[in-house]
Amino acid sequence: MSQPVRYEVGAEMAARAHIDRAAYQALYRRSIEDPSGFWAEQAQQFVTWSRPWARVLDWDYQIPRIRWFEGAKLNVAYNCLDRHLASRGDRTAILWEADEPGETRAVSYRELFDAVCRFANALKARGVGKGDRVAIYLPMVPEAAVAMLACARIGAVHSVVFGGFSPESLKDRILDSDCRVVVTADEGLRGGRHVPLKANVDAALLACPRVHTVFVVRRTGRSIAWQAGRDLWYHETVASADPECPPVEMDAEDPLFILYTSGSTGKPKGVLHTSGGYLVYAAITHRYVFDYRDGDIYWCTADVGWVTGHTYCVYGPLCNGATTLMFEGIPTHPNPGRFWEVVDRHRVNILYTAPTAIRANMAQGDAWVQKSRRTSLRILGTVGEPINPEAWEWYYRVVGDRRCPIVDTWWQTETGGIMITPLPAVVTTKPGSATIPYPGIVPELVDAKGNKLEVGGGFLTIAQPWPGMLRTIFGDDERYREIYWSRFPDRYFTGDGAKLDEDGYWWILGRVDDVLNVAGHRVGTMEVESALVDHPAVAEAAVVGRAHDLKGQALAAFVTLKDGQNASDGLKDDLKAHVTQKIGAIARPDDIFFSADLPKTRSGKIMRRLLKDIAEGRALGDTTTLADPNVVSRLKEMYEARET
Ligand code: WTA
Repeated sequence: MSQPVRYEVGAEMAARAHIDRAAYQALYRRSIEDPSGFWAEQAQQFVTWSRPWARVLDWDYQIPRIRWFEGAKLNVAYNCLDRHLASRGDRTAILWEADEPGETRAVSYRELFDAVCRFANALKARGVGKGDRVAIYLPMVPEAAVAMLACARIGAVHSVVFGGFSPESLKDRILDSDCRVVVTADEGLRGGRHVPLKANVDAALLACPRVHTVFVVRRTGRSIAWQAGRDLWYHETVASADPECPPVEMDAEDPLFILYTSGSTGKPKGVLHTSGGYLVYAAITHRYVFDYRDGDIYWCTADVGWVTGHTYCVYGPLCNGATTLMFEGIPTHPNPGRFWEVVDRHRVNILYTAPTAIRANMAQGDAWVQKSRRTSLRILGTVGEPINPEAWEWYYRVVGDRRCPIVDTWWQTETGGIMITPLPAVVTTKPGSATIPYPGIVPELVDAKGNKLEVGGGFLTIAQPWPGMLRTIFGDDERYREIYWSRFPDRYFTGDGAKLDEDGYWWILGRVDDVLNVAGHRVGTMEVESALVDHPAVAEAAVVGRAHDLKGQALAAFVTLKDGQNASDGLKDDLKAHVTQKIGAIARPDDIFFSADLPKTRSGKIMRRLLKDIAEGRALGDTTTLADPNVVSRLKEMYEARET
């Protein structure tokens, strides 16, 4: 294999960054030799505690139980708001750019503080208290951050559900964590399209009798159904609420939020994060990975419905007193130059986005980028899926004008924050590699038996605990143990395959479980299969990912129909619509293929690997364990015939 291209750290970056190469080496060594000392120092520096910890770390991976900063007290909203008021109360906390270009709003720290206190009181008035769960189903508007921080202020646990999820997905999530209050908007607005959020909530709540309150943010003003007694306008409630709301003192290990993510079963899992460790980890990684400097305009394009939106739109930047840009729209509306227009309008210094957005922009041609100046940009980041070197190079060359280092950050909903990444003034980058671990993080490569490997391909595990890690799956400690801690003893299993090169650089290969990554979103194959099987015409379904130029992976579904059902294009459309309605548009299959049989092992397991080979047009892998090898060759013939 030819040597990959390398990009050295620029001289200016090296001279000015918070952490240079020597500092990183010292810091990393210390983080490994004295983890407790290292994390205690970080926690003291970045977070204000109302009571110190008795013990930095209590770790028992047999149970497994992990407690960070045991005995310490803090309030996350206090850290993100109150403590900044004296020094930067009038500075912009949230800089909002609406779906329509040029419509912007700057919310200062003082204004955000005021809104959070008032909304926290509104929640309290509806009986929400410490430990209660609140569902948030909002578009990218500042009120989403207000709602999250208001929960944090009174010790309630938020569960943000991405606005693209269907009423049924929303219902499942509300029920799983027993939310009694929902915060939503009349509608969302994305790329000029109206998203019927309140109507979706109404539909979901038909099956959630315990929800007694729905706060509704007025975004578009279109008329919506209203249930008196249950539904309350956000703006009216906040206007009349008491502006005084002292933060509730929370234990470091009290839950902060639940965020549902797809796994290898049909049911999404509620990843639970707690307060102290998560906040420390969010703040330090935000500061060092992006080399954040006071006064920077920082833009993370992720939706608050995903973990990136939690850690790097809200908690990390606000804990650091930053200005975080929140963008409601999409990269192609009203034209493909939108991202760069936003960068110029707000003089963005740090841009953090996803490979799928980079590839979508790249496909539009360089001219859209070159219309803008982008001179304010200093650091570029990417997250969510492996970035192909071609897209990396384009990001570097065209967007960053070869001036801005790229940080390719690997992490997961479960890890709370960035784990493997270049630091901009430390690491010589290689396009496509997430490079080296963040200080305090100990990734290890293992083979199928759990033996540690120094180089080559294998499974990515994390050998030491870190403060941002998930604590459990809400309501299901056993599933938590099983998924993350049972495959390899004494290690956290990420579910990702990876390669470690001779320089110790990590190359993430993608999921090794039944989770796909479609346009940077995790989609469980089993979830899509159950949605398909739920359709009255379907007997059985198998879903696999196939490579896709823009989305990274696309969904291909192989479906067998019940007796008497006819395969037709109309039925295909029907099935796609059915999945969209059950889960949401992100899970809509790109291809549906009808087949009389699915390839199975003798014990009856569907062999998805072979289906993937078919969907990607590859020579067939090993078919010797199949019950009926003819099924596969028949399928392949039919699939190829269909494509021509
Ligand atoms: C993938 C998103 C390669 C990976 C923060 C992981 C990546 C999953 C990268 C988590 C990256 C994330 N390079 N792959 N830089 N970042 N992934 O939970 O497969 O939505 O396990 O968290 O995305 O997705 P999640």
